[in-house]
Amino acid sequence: MKKQIEQIKSVAEKEIKKAQNSQAIENLRIKYLGRKGKLTQVIKKISQIPKGKGQRREMGILLNEAKKKIQLAIAKQNQIIKRKKKNKNTWIDTTAPGQLPPIGHFHPITLAFREIWPLFERLGFTLVSYPEIEWEWFAFEALNMPTGHPARDDFETFFLDVKPHSKLGEMVLTPHTSSGQIREMRRINPPVRMINIAKCYRLNWDNTHTPMFHQFEGLVIDKNINLTHLKGIFEYFTKNFYGPERKIRLRPFHFQFTEPSFEVDIDCPICHGRGCRVCKSGWHELGGAGMIHPQVLKNGGIDPKKYSGFAFGWGVERTYMMKSGLKLNDIRILYENDLRFVEQF
Ligand code: PHE
Repeated sequence: MKKQIEQIKSVAEKEIKKAQNSQAIENLRIKYLGRKGKLTQVIKKISQIPKGKGQRREMGILLNEAKKKIQLAIAKQNQIIKRKKKNKNTWIDTTAPGQLPPIGHFHPITLAFREIWPLFERLGFTLVSYPEIEWEWFAFEALNMPTGHPARDDFETFFLDVKPHSKLGEMVLTPHTSSGQIREMRRINPPVRMINIAKCYRLNWDNTHTPMFHQFEGLVIDKNINLTHLKGIFEYFTKNFYGPERKIRLRPFHFQFTEPSFEVDIDCPICHGRGCRVCKSGWHELGGAGMIHPQVLKNGGIDPKKYSGFAFGWGVERTYMMKSGLKLNDIRILYENDLRFVEQF
């Protein structure tokens, strides 16, 4: 009997190993372990072995082991077949393009910077950068904004809690890039062609204002510079930045440091200047500009009898948003680091 069990087991194992599909395995299971299976029949005979002498017990153990081995062989073979099937189905297309991992990109304001600057670089402008923390004199005084001017109120401008300078006044977070005008005039002799793109700070926090924002400031000083040059630069910038079909207009305005002064408007991309629900007037305001006031040139150490110039200062956020046609209900979203917003650029 011992031999018989051994033989059934080894034949069963061999046959199971050769089985190529789950049906074949199932048939073998029935053949050996089924109700009338070969091993089952031997198991049934165990009762015929006389009790005592431990023979019945020995056979019992052997049969159990054989049964377990056969069951194990079945399980293994089933797994092998399953794996083979799976491998057959996963065909790899080696010519398919790979999957790119997600890649980050620059913040919309950095993108704006990178688009604005090259346009002026082409015209021979120099990119400069001036202090974000500035003396009052550069930010106001030298720009014809004396003490008492409303912009110098601490409702408008951030003042630093440091000892004031005897001549330059208190320290402020620069409220506009125009302070760079004076610094540039003092740095080099004309001709001056400066572009200054920087952070500015004002005490405002609502849908259309953030306390920190960006401006780009242009400054051109040379002999015989006049209004037509200013207009020419704006035409060039708008046509290249916004597209050849867009128009600009200069609207008389007042700034202390330019005379005459203007606000620059661009026609609404939706109604082209006719007036619609979005723009109301047909135009969108881009920023300020004007011919440099002679006193400002003097403050910068330049002789207004010899030289003239113009300056402009526009908000980067506004300029860029107007390009993408994006109308933000709340521009503060620009600085909230919400990836759902930033990833749209
Ligand atoms: N500095 C002005 C502002 O912040 C803009 C401006 C710049 C106007 C240069 C005229 C010339 O509103």
